[in-house]
Amino acid sequence: MITDAQSAARVMERCEALGRTSEEPDLLARPYGSQAMRRANDTVAGWMREAGMGVQSDVFGNLLGRYEGIGNETLLLGSHLDTVRDAGKYDGPLGVLVALACVERLQERNERLPFAVEVVAFADEEGLRFGTTFLGSSVFAGSFDPGLLGLEGADGVTLAEAVRSFGGDPDALVDGGRDGDDLLGYCEVHIEQGPVLERLDLPVGVVTGIQGQTRASVDFVGEAGHAGTVPMEGRRDALCAAAEFVLAVEETARGQPGMVATVGHIAAHPGAGNVIPGEVSLSLDLRHGDDRVRERAVASLRETARGIAADRGGENRWQLRQESSAVPTDPGLTALLARAVADLGYRVERLPSGAGHDAAQLAEIAPTAMLFVRCEKGISHNPAESVEQEDVAVAIEVTSRFLKLVEESRG
Ligand code: GLV
Ligand code: MN
Ligand code: MN
Repeated sequence: MITDAQSAARVMERCEALGRTSEEPDLLARPYGSQAMRRANDTVAGWMREAGMGVQSDVFGNLLGRYEGIGNETLLLGSHLDTVRDAGKYDGPLGVLVALACVERLQERNERLPFAVEVVAFADEEGLRFGTTFLGSSVFAGSFDPGLLGLEGADGVTLAEAVRSFGGDPDALVDGGRDGDDLLGYCEVHIEQGPVLERLDLPVGVVTGIQGQTRASVDFVGEAGHAGTVPMEGRRDALCAAAEFVLAVEETARGQPGMVATVGHIAAHPGAGNVIPGEVSLSLDLRHGDDRVRERAVASLRETARGIAADRGGENRWQLRQESSAVPTDPGLTALLARAVADLGYRVERLPSGAGHDAAQLAEIAPTAMLFVRCEKGISHNPAESVEQEDVAVAIEVTSRFLKLVEESRG
């Protein structure tokens, strides 16, 4: 019989293997629809089959492995397999692989629960390619917005084209959701991506909810010109306008407790050292636990962007890429997860999630719960992301205990 430590060691090895599955040679990047994403899905599908699961892909390319139970109901476990650019190895894959490890334990004991356990590996949570997050889980939850199909990534390929070339069906995304009638719930294991558990010296924590977020593409248009001949007076430098806006974003978030706002990507056109930038595109990511506060801040920044552009004789374009509300986890399912943590002898620490997670979409069709795993110094979205094998063993134990408690709670 495989021990928890061996099972955790296997999860760590698999995180390493997926960490080498990248679209770029020198860093980890696995955007939706890429060859690397295809290889990651194929690899995980192979592990799912070895664990006795039936495997399918849905109309978007989300990977689903099902370990049948005795009855017709289903408990979902999972997370995502896509990554940010220059990513760590654990954000997403850890949740999929811990779920898989729990199924492997059932298979080893030849055990069938009264419900099926379905492991879901979502194909786009980060939004790396199209700047909009939760695409995979929004399709799964039946809340996909068809208005996004025309979005273009940096390579000029639309979302619709990317779905088709990944083997999916863009016309079926709106109705491609999982019927929620048989679902008992969705539980996601994820690295904390923050420092709280490490400070408290706890391996795991129980999530109370996920804060809301807005993402937008913001363009400033000025006039390109010769860097040596156009006098400073009267220039319409789009990058200077963008720089003013970036600082306004920082000031807005600093002035509002609990708010975080980031400009993580910026591109200047034509992008030559001796040309005044004529056009700049940047990304905005703004988050807060209170949706009204977030919405007010976004509306005000939109005005600020218009004002900056107008004052500099330029234009501003604003494209909303993503808007998701703050979502609490389900109290009933979360109580079972907390009990699983306590049953294993750990103090139950409850904490909110600053990061977005697929659980936020799944909440539309099923009760959700999330378990955070301590990570070193809270570092994430960074290749230095690190978790301890011992903590992964605890996550496997807690999730396995949680499955038992779900079984018992059904009477
Ligand atoms: C996902 O990792 C997000 O919160 O951006
Ligand atoms: Mn992430
Ligand atoms: Mn994640």
